[in-house]
Amino acid sequence: MEVLSVASEVYPLIKTGGLADVAGALPGALAGRGVTMRTLVPGYPAVMSKLSGGRVVRELDDLFGVPAKLIAARVEGLDVIVIDAPALYDRPGNPYVSPDGWDWPDNWKRFAALGWVAAELAHGLVAGYRPNLLHCHDWQAGLAPAYIKFGPTDDVKTVMTIHNIAFKGSFGPEIFGQLRLPPHAFEMGGVEFYGGVSYLKSGMECADYVTTVSPNYADEIRTPEFGMGLEGLLNGRAETVVGILNGIDVDAWNPATDRALVQTYSANTIHARQVNKRAVVEKFGLDGADGPLFCVISRLTDQKGMDLLLQTVDGLVDLGGRLAVLGSGDAALEDGFRTMWARHPGKVSIVTGYNEQLSHLMQGGCDAILIPSRFEPCGLTQLYGLRYGCVPVVSRIGGLADTVIDANPAALAAEVATGVVFDAGSAHALYEAIRRTTRLYHDDKVWKKIQRRGMKSDVSWDTSAVRYAELYAIITGLMTNDDP
Ligand code: ADP
Ligand code: GLC
Repeated sequence: MEVLSVASEVYPLIKTGGLADVAGALPGALAGRGVTMRTLVPGYPAVMSKLSGGRVVRELDDLFGVPAKLIAARVEGLDVIVIDAPALYDRPGNPYVSPDGWDWPDNWKRFAALGWVAAELAHGLVAGYRPNLLHCHDWQAGLAPAYIKFGPTDDVKTVMTIHNIAFKGSFGPEIFGQLRLPPHAFEMGGVEFYGGVSYLKSGMECADYVTTVSPNYADEIRTPEFGMGLEGLLNGRAETVVGILNGIDVDAWNPATDRALVQTYSANTIHARQVNKRAVVEKFGLDGADGPLFCVISRLTDQKGMDLLLQTVDGLVDLGGRLAVLGSGDAALEDGFRTMWARHPGKVSIVTGYNEQLSHLMQGGCDAILIPSRFEPCGLTQLYGLRYGCVPVVSRIGGLADTVIDANPAALAAEVATGVVFDAGSAHALYEAIRRTTRLYHDDKVWKKIQRRGMKSDVSWDTSAVRYAELYAIITGLMTNDDP
């Protein structure tokens, strides 16, 4: 089966968050399972700079008013089709915002183009290439299912994956006339959402199946607390909504071979992590105390509970812990961590910006990773933490709750604990979790067991890739729900 994955980010070409990791890993995970996956991605500067040896498979005079070329290439093991439309994508900054942090005003057009090209590819835009199914990721790809539903034929199947329901891709009604959709698409059963247009809602409404990235989040978003106004839609089509847990690329994230580490190691040589710990301590200018070294590798936002963490930093330091933060995001939160750095020199430090290599080293050297999210569709950093023996300390929410087993007395006795889990949204609960983690850390035998168990737990794509392959087969009619 030929599947076109439609994504605004794909690692290692372009990444701002977990979506890129997932879009980058899925094609490899599905290879050998009867699925050939290409990825359609916008030609941002980062993407264009990595293309070499691609070939132009189609030229378009008028892609929403601008010329464009479609370039097919194989880059870093991925088969991609890149939309080379400089007027839309050749810009500084990240894919969504200008260097000064504002959304690009024509984002509606930039991502309408992504959805439109996806649908046209399914309708035969490029000779010799005809995907059976479009797998659309997040709001940026959300119009593709609408272009299929309201297009010439609906024999192409579509899956809409929600990586984060908080980003709905909402625009005013005035854009509708330029979307190249028929007038009746501006309705509840189409792209309309509270009088405007929402790309995510469009995808969720028009796709054959809606998936999200953990079973727990699939349940949560069917409630008003987490559904962000889309819970009704999801409940109305509950039998075609499913949660499939993300995996990670266990080759790119392998402590035994990772070149970003000063010292590679395995579950049997876990003591060797000390070398990496010293390197992290040095890079962050921390002192050499013997308490636990906590880390954060995250967008610094409310979603990630970073304000809660700021409230507990004094307590963390009082307990003998140190904290290394790698992240960027809200200016107030960045400032908050800088203030903590000044208040606790040698104990707390922040590196702002995005640094893939450093994130690997931190997973390979820090003792525990703090993830106090208020909501978390899946979360990947706890999975990297498990794989690297960097014990995840996570709120009991979304995919975090699906992937980490709390070290409570029963789980410790049953020898199944892999981390520490606490109630979401509470600075007090976070502090108590840090306290509990510190206690566990000082019991070396118990701590190493927790680390080793995490390192041995299955965080690969193996199980979930089978689930996606089965889902594609069901949707395209190759398999029924009753097949084994
Ligand atoms: P989200 O997609 O919501 O940001 P995830 O946990 O799913 O959260 O994925 C975040 C991804 O981005 C992970 O691969 C994580 O390691 C990476 N990441 C986040 N912030 C940084 C940073 N400042 N530097 C390097 N990698 C980062
Ligand atoms: C989103 C979510 C995160 C998830 C990632 C990949 O960015 O916030 O929880 O892991 O997508 O699916």
